[in-house]
Amino acid sequence: SASTSITIGGRTEQTDNWTNVTPSILSSISRRLHLQPDHPLAITRTLIESRFPGYKYHNNLSPIVTTAQNFDSLGFPGDHPGRAKSDTYYINKDTVLRTHTSAHQLDTFRANQSDGYLIAADVYRRDAVDRSHYPVFHQMEGAMTWDRNSLPSGTTLEQHIWGEVDKIPRHDVKVEDPNPSFHDGNPLQADYHSEGECKAMATHLKRSLEDVVVTIFNAARDAAVRSGDKVAIRESQEPLKIRWVEAYFPFTSPSWELEVFWQGDWLEVLGSGIVKQSILNDAGVPSRHGWAFGLGLERIAMLLFSIPDIRLFWSADNRFLSQFSAEKKGFTRFVPFSKYPECPKDVAFWLPTPQTPSSQQAAHETSKPTATSSASSAGGAEATGSSANADATPALFQENDLMEIVRNEAGADVEDVRLTDSFTHPKTGRQSRCYRIVYRSLERTLTNVEANRMHEGIKTKLVEKLGVEIR
Ligand code: PHE
Repeated sequence: SASTSITIGGRTEQTDNWTNVTPSILSSISRRLHLQPDHPLAITRTLIESRFPGYKYHNNLSPIVTTAQNFDSLGFPGDHPGRAKSDTYYINKDTVLRTHTSAHQLDTFRANQSDGYLIAADVYRRDAVDRSHYPVFHQMEGAMTWDRNSLPSGTTLEQHIWGEVDKIPRHDVKVEDPNPSFHDGNPLQADYHSEGECKAMATHLKRSLEDVVVTIFNAARDAAVRSGDKVAIRESQEPLKIRWVEAYFPFTSPSWELEVFWQGDWLEVLGSGIVKQSILNDAGVPSRHGWAFGLGLERIAMLLFSIPDIRLFWSADNRFLSQFSAEKKGFTRFVPFSKYPECPKDVAFWLPTPQTPSSQQAAHETSKPTATSSASSAGGAEATGSSANADATPALFQENDLMEIVRNEAGADVEDVRLTDSFTHPKTGRQSRCYRIVYRSLERTLTNVEANRMHEGIKTKLVEKLGVEIR
């Protein structure tokens, strides 16, 4: 069979029947929004970096990584849903666009250049279309490790870490933390460090991240007050509350998420935990122990600047870009330019009839969508991968494939795609789906003719690529 390849930033990669990256996804690699000086993502990155003095900052790591880096090195099981073609952008069977900055953990530990590091980078996940999800977003990862073989003389690892905890700035925000910081039911990690050491590391992790979050949310509150916006001021007068919630990641144990009570809701801000010793061992630094965290920069920037739609980060419109400046003292709230009218349109179709086992095999070989899970996570710091389809969707239909078609046909002119109806025909057993696609440009009024043209284009591709039958 013909062998094809794609060239990305001077690097040539073979394609195969796993390839599902699209030209528009590949074209976002060169945008590097987190490095554009006055971009809100870069301003957010810099604010976080300022809370981690002395850490090494990595902001230029290539998004093209191996499945070994993105998954295996971190202990993801072979059948983890995050590995599915429906969730992840594959360049070929062994090469993906990183789904999270943790893809660089093992290599960064191996390079052993510093005790602490931060990584800011673009990450890629096939996902839903709505105002807080975009298939490319940015994460910031951080880690701190201590080498038990090179401690200041006369201190134990545990004493040393408690000493470091004392150097973290204090705050007066109320913190709920009902979780044990030690190794309840975690015998693997207990072989490598004591309960006391784990407790010291967990406290260092929690205090460091509380400091970041308190700094960010106080900045957002100051911006609200300066804006003079009455609603914003009222909402931000609620005292800030934060809480630690137990979580699971394949590469940390124990693991926690940090949530912030902001304008009436608990928001998940980051994932974190004590680094699994197997990773540090594999990285050739078995005497190091420590913690790691990962957060979604868009989510934080949206709160910090009150940016209502994730597509705005990609905008070249000066009415957006000119509102942000790294020079400005403190943060400013984004003032939306006028909201253009929405243009909702529905598309209803029959799913392809369920496949027999042998035809499913064939479908996989011709690189049609495979039977695994459909995504719903991302935008934030959730573990890569997501829950299975809620209902028993036939093997060939993956919601993320529909999302991809919509993005390819309509680009940034779609605000939201939502399943509005789903039923099984009582006689034929065929399954029907209806999706509502909301067309709305952030920059101008779309005409009905334009929206229709995009909608018809989407229908054609749904038939062509997913084998559905329009109703
Ligand atoms: N990589 C995780 C995610 O994308 C976040 C994380 C990073 C969690 C580091 C723990 C430690 O969801």
